[in-house]
Amino acid sequence: MKKILVIHGPNLQLLGQRETAIYGVLTMEEINKTLEAVAASRQAQLTFFQSNHEGGIVDRIGVASAEGFAGIVINPAAYTHTSVAIRDAVSASPLPVVEVHLSNIHKREEFRHHSIIAPAACGQISGFGAQSYVLGLMAVIGILESH
Ligand code: DQA
Repeated sequence: MKKILVIHGPNLQLLGQRETAIYGVLTMEEINKTLEAVAASRQAQLTFFQSNHEGGIVDRIGVASAEGFAGIVINPAAYTHTSVAIRDAVSASPLPVVEVHLSNIHKREEFRHHSIIAPAACGQISGFGAQSYVLGLMAVIGILESH
């Protein structure tokens, strides 16, 4: 069983009610349920972590390998565009990390076009709504299975 950590960044606890025209109507819990179903069919076990705090996310990435996780799917949300600390945590981690975004950050405001974190990740998936998380999870599983 591969243990995979799914991290939701700031304000994603509000999914389902937050700017639904941009982020969709599914709640974070509903997205997590969908991911659980995908994971179950791929011998993966998921743990979910949501935080509005940069340091909390840094802490969680920092201990993930020691805790036995094999990979990470992360939506860093607004920290995508600001957080050197999360990027450094991703760089420091031996685990494959895939960055996901519900919206297509490249066709939104200019400040969202740049991800500080993406160069430290295996890759970035952006713009497919909740499906971005599914694709991100499949990417992590694919990386783990190819090793
Ligand atoms: C987001 C995009 C970010 O720019 C934004 O700050 C978010 C969500 C997305 O999933 O589309 O909070 O990461």
